[in-house]
Amino acid sequence: MSLRPETRTVHPPVPQPSGSKPLGVPIYQGHVFAFEGADQMAAAFDGPDAAFFYSRLGNPTVRAFEEAVTDLEGGTAGLAFASGMGAISAVVLGNVRAGDHVIAQTCLYGGTYSLLRDLAERWNVEVTFISGADAAEVRDALRPNTKLLYLETIANPTTQVVDLPALIEAAAPARPGLICIVDNTFATPLLCRPLEYGADVVVHSATKFLGGHSDIMGGVAVFASPELRRRSWDHAIDLGASADPFAAWLALRGMQTLALRVERQCASAGYLAERLAEHPAVSRVAYPGLPGHPDYAVARRLLPAGGAVLAFDLDGGREAGRTFVEATQLCALTGSLGSVHTLVLHPASTSHRQLDAASLAAASIGEGTIRLAVGIEHRDDLWDDIEQALAKVT
Ligand SMILES: Cc1ncc(COP(=O)(O)O)c(C=O)c1O
Repeated sequence: MSLRPETRTVHPPVPQPSGSKPLGVPIYQGHVFAFEGADQMAAAFDGPDAAFFYSRLGNPTVRAFEEAVTDLEGGTAGLAFASGMGAISAVVLGNVRAGDHVIAQTCLYGGTYSLLRDLAERWNVEVTFISGADAAEVRDALRPNTKLLYLETIANPTTQVVDLPALIEAAAPARPGLICIVDNTFATPLLCRPLEYGADVVVHSATKFLGGHSDIMGGVAVFASPELRRRSWDHAIDLGASADPFAAWLALRGMQTLALRVERQCASAGYLAERLAEHPAVSRVAYPGLPGHPDYAVARRLLPAGGAVLAFDLDGGREAGRTFVEATQLCALTGSLGSVHTLVLHPASTSHRQLDAASLAAASIGEGTIRLAVGIEHRDDLWDDIEQALAKVT
């Protein structure tokens, strides 16, 4: 029977050790698995699909999580990690070498940006950053040694939505030597599936929407081909950022309510974006579901639900931003996103504090920009909290 993604989140593939099927995936907490014979054990070193032997190389609970995300993203195989950065580091480092060239969007998650900058500064990998606003930027940046195109479905905190199919298509002349990696953390596979647009690898911080409850660290990569997964696995097992079985189990458990959470989070984000846009203390709202968003047309096509993260600018600049985040009572002042809890952040004084005014402006982040990662609370309670905090900055 062909099931829709919302149903498949509740019915992931579950290992079936006996004739009956557990509805919840069991936790295989043990880190080592024993064999009857020496040949059997030797074969366990063959690759990611060999028998389980040592949990850094593979684990049944972790595998169930990998398969669940792979199924939703429409890939052929996955690998889970201890964090989103674990997934990103393993896939990026597993697919470039000194002398290679990488093209990446400028507005990337900070950890990814510093990984790429480090590759450029210490590992002799050239990196060209592009705005992502135009596919011609990719075409112009291509070189004979370009090996990676790295993009995000929804960028942080500007909520930029790049035209994934167009950008990936623009890299076609460099295929198959080039692979395209897309960080789909902000969108989830329920809103957008980049592999359908020609991406080769999708990465997630499972710490966010997949886990969904602010209680795990996790990451996952889903591959279009088994060969790419094998190459990344070879590096991943040396890197050692393997997923813990209990975190993988919690992520699987969280994913069973992913569709409900994301639907409500997106609806509330749209509602709050509209109300914020009407408020006199707010000069700009960045939410892909609002018609005034620069990427509105692309977002309508690629992720019509709009997402659950928005940003807005306060007229009063840095001071107003700080006052606002200290004044919220229900929205928790912290980083992260994709949780059942609504989280609020002032990027200029926290996540992006290393940027000077010019770099902030180049990244479309104002001194008074606030990022709101919407949770599942009642939308009117959220608005009441936001409204009383806005009253303190006006
Ligand atoms: C888009 C995106 N990708 C990757 C990461 C890194 O994930 P983790 O913190 O799980 O390593 C984050 C973290 O905020 C993120 O927002």
